[in-house]
Amino acid sequence: MAELLNGWKRTHYCGDPTAAEIGREITLMGWAGTWRNLGALIFIGLRDRTGVMQVTFDESKLPKEVFEKAETIRSEYVIAVKGVLAKRDENMINKNMRTGELEVIARDLKILSVSETPPFYIDDDVNTQEQLRLKYRYLDLRRPCMQYNMLMRSKITRIAHDYFAEQGFIEIETPTLCKSTPEGARDYLVPSRVQPGKFYALPQSPQIFKQLLMLSGFDRYMQIARCYRDEDLRADRQPEFTQIDLEMSFVEQEDVMRVNEGFIQRLMKETLDIDVPLPLPRITWQEAMDRYGSDKPDTRFGLEFINITDIADGCGFGAFADAVAAGGSVRCINVEGGVDKFTRKQIDSLVEYVKTYRAKGMAWMSMKSEGMQCSFAKFLTEEQIAAIHERANAKTGDLLLFIADAKNEVVYQSLGALRLEVGRRLGLMDEDKFNFLWVVEFPQFEWSEDDGRFYAMHHPFTSPMDEDLPLLDTDQGKVRAKAYDIVLNGNEIGGGSIRIHSPEVQEKMFEKLGFTKEQAWERFGFLMGAFKYGTPPHGGLAYGLDRLAMLITKAQSIRDVIAFPKVQTASCLMCAAPDVVEDAQLEELHIATVVEKE
Ligand code: AMO
Repeated sequence: MAELLNGWKRTHYCGDPTAAEIGREITLMGWAGTWRNLGALIFIGLRDRTGVMQVTFDESKLPKEVFEKAETIRSEYVIAVKGVLAKRDENMINKNMRTGELEVIARDLKILSVSETPPFYIDDDVNTQEQLRLKYRYLDLRRPCMQYNMLMRSKITRIAHDYFAEQGFIEIETPTLCKSTPEGARDYLVPSRVQPGKFYALPQSPQIFKQLLMLSGFDRYMQIARCYRDEDLRADRQPEFTQIDLEMSFVEQEDVMRVNEGFIQRLMKETLDIDVPLPLPRITWQEAMDRYGSDKPDTRFGLEFINITDIADGCGFGAFADAVAAGGSVRCINVEGGVDKFTRKQIDSLVEYVKTYRAKGMAWMSMKSEGMQCSFAKFLTEEQIAAIHERANAKTGDLLLFIADAKNEVVYQSLGALRLEVGRRLGLMDEDKFNFLWVVEFPQFEWSEDDGRFYAMHHPFTSPMDEDLPLLDTDQGKVRAKAYDIVLNGNEIGGGSIRIHSPEVQEKMFEKLGFTKEQAWERFGFLMGAFKYGTPPHGGLAYGLDRLAMLITKAQSIRDVIAFPKVQTASCLMCAAPDVVEDAQLEELHIATVVEKE
């Protein structure tokens, strides 16, 4: 029977009492985790969000009815205990627990709620399938590691609120029923009941609104903003996710970066007590691609790219020479001491691995002490081989892995993925290192082969670099943007830009993105119209809060830092969303589906 509190008040969380309070009577409330019944003694591990306290029920010291009640306690019962804080017997001390030297000798007990046997143990060590965890997410969230993740996430948002408020940022909420502006990811749509056939879109980010707030004079805006993107899910992506979103007026790139570096420093100090030296390192997008094949490089380890395109030019090895002749490149990484670390079979598995990234193959050179072994040496002259050795600083014991392709992007992608894979296999990614990095000077445009048109790499409101403005009309693909990403250990944790604040440049940008004037006005008219009424220069940035929390808590997946996340199919396994709705609801919304009901 569920008992009522009847005036009982909790005095402490389970993890809070210290030895200084031994002898005090305290009242704890929480969930019974482990329980052991030794006949005349019952031990319960009482758990709440702060930790676990051992509670001891001693038959010889308790009224009969209290001890009998204690005998009925099972895992996950919710109980309230009054008792005296005591030091455990020497042989019962658990050094791995914060409260491991303490126990509460129970005097009275209330069973506030009973529990059925849960579908899995509420324990960090239990290897429960994620599907089951997500179906019973409310139980999964009771596990100490999930509680840690949620508390840490809450701490991150608090630090963001505090820091940005101290820096003069104003918190303003922006709508989540918006106009669809199909650029970037696919929108989630919401049908309008009162305007038949019309739809709202859920925001992919508050981008346009925060820019309009700059026009309104709010100067420094921040928001913990929920965003929605209907895109393919990955380990670091969710259909709904949260941004720490900000925008500033009367600033240049440097100013935005400086404020954010202060945030990162404060965040790392207050969450993990890590000192981040400032300024954070910076790298241009081009350099990031040339050195790591990625615009979000993991700089915790080396294995940087070595470009041997000039040496491979016109050589006797077709795979190399053809790639260069077609305007591509040949690059390699030097896995120092790799000869002893990769068997022939493992090298073959790397060849298969790079093929999943569209590489046609992978060439290799093994600097064995008994002589070089190489998949292509017979096609090269001695001078060419010597030149490669020199360029790659190859020594005995090293393993060189090469990718050649007619398309540079394929070399970047596949060799970049290979670099990460080799780094993973060799354990080069130090879990305790937090390497922040700014990537700057992004290309303004990205060419899509499929659509035969340019897209904005960041978004259409991003300002081109001043010196590249003339290129808009002459060599659009070469224009660089005032855009910056902040990267942590190979993850893009945030991105932003200085915005275009001149209506003429904004119009030109839409033209360059292939919109007619009418289309641009149709979609973005309210922004372009607003620009005519006095626009301060402005720029901003948004962090992916979920990604930040994932990295700070060292969680395996973004789902582990979201209370109720979605799975690959964008469904919630707990509440079974999305789901069919009543016909009457559809009718009201003037919607008919073409899919048969299951
Ligand atoms: P961007 O699209 O780069 O910029 O998004 C900013 C950050 O949000 C995170 N993020 C995601 N996290 C989880 N799941 C997703 N599906 C997802 N998509 C993005 C990333 C990313 O760095 N309005 C601009 C910001 C600006 O220019 O100020 C924007 O949304 O960590």
